[in-house]
Amino acid sequence: MTIDLNNICDQVIGISREVGKFISHEQSRLGTQNIEEKGHNDFVTYVDKAAETLLVNELAAVIPDCGFITEEKTVAQESKEYIWIIDPIDGTTNFIHGLPLYSISIALMHQNKIILGVVYEISNDECFYAVKGNGAFLNGKPIKVSNRRTVANSLIVTGFPYRFADRLDAWMALFVHFIKNSHGVRRLGSAAIDLAYVACGRFEAFYEYGLSPWDVAAGGFIVQQAGGAVSDYSGTSDWLFGNELLAGNDLVNEEMLVSINEYFPKATS
Ligand code: 2AM
Ligand code: CA
Repeated sequence: MTIDLNNICDQVIGISREVGKFISHEQSRLGTQNIEEKGHNDFVTYVDKAAETLLVNELAAVIPDCGFITEEKTVAQESKEYIWIIDPIDGTTNFIHGLPLYSISIALMHQNKIILGVVYEISNDECFYAVKGNGAFLNGKPIKVSNRRTVANSLIVTGFPYRFADRLDAWMALFVHFIKNSHGVRRLGSAAIDLAYVACGRFEAFYEYGLSPWDVAAGGFIVQQAGGAVSDYSGTSDWLFGNELLAGNDLVNEEMLVSINEYFPKATS
């Protein structure tokens, strides 16, 4: 099956903006009775689930017979030629606290390779997107990763670990190292937004472990199309399903990988 990727991207942007309006409207009506805890500090609301259903229904009409990998599991995961990877709200903890940093993250995979990514940052109406081989864009304007060359001149973003407590001490030592040796380290609470901000050069680099494919698929791809490098902590390309991710421009990434390998041992589980 051949598809027109640019046309599909336009459709996905339209769908994201439409579902974004729903999410933002529901945010103002949200009460504590609407919040469920899936695991320790792992929250979900009826809005996450309803938004996912809307996205799945609309995207199923864009490409016939496609599969889905989604955070809220409202649809069964099936192996297909084309697969959508969806996080209906990335940054749910921000969303339930009314902190306006949450996004819709949608990637399209063809034969296990990502070919399209859209991250829609709802509150600022910033839509980041890319299709394979065509650069990356923010609301219609081309974007590029930063060209700063050293960690010392970089602003870095990360996420605080939720899982794998055995790696926490090493992670803290690495965190202290980057605080002392860069312009600073930020934590926004939405990996998709972190990656989108790397893609447009607001941050030089992003690193986090314990993430899922729906958190990173679209954003990681947009960073690559914006001229950046994305890897796991060993420098390999296993970042989508590999649970650890480093993204930025290649020079800063190379320097960061040395520190990551010095402070943060490879996971044993
Ligand atoms: P979410 O909001 O879709 O859950 C922030 O560091 C990143 O971690 C976000 O992408 C967020 O995605 C994810 N996250 C939040 N809570 C989590 C948890 N309990 N376990 C794993 N990932 C989580
Ligand atoms: Ca989510």
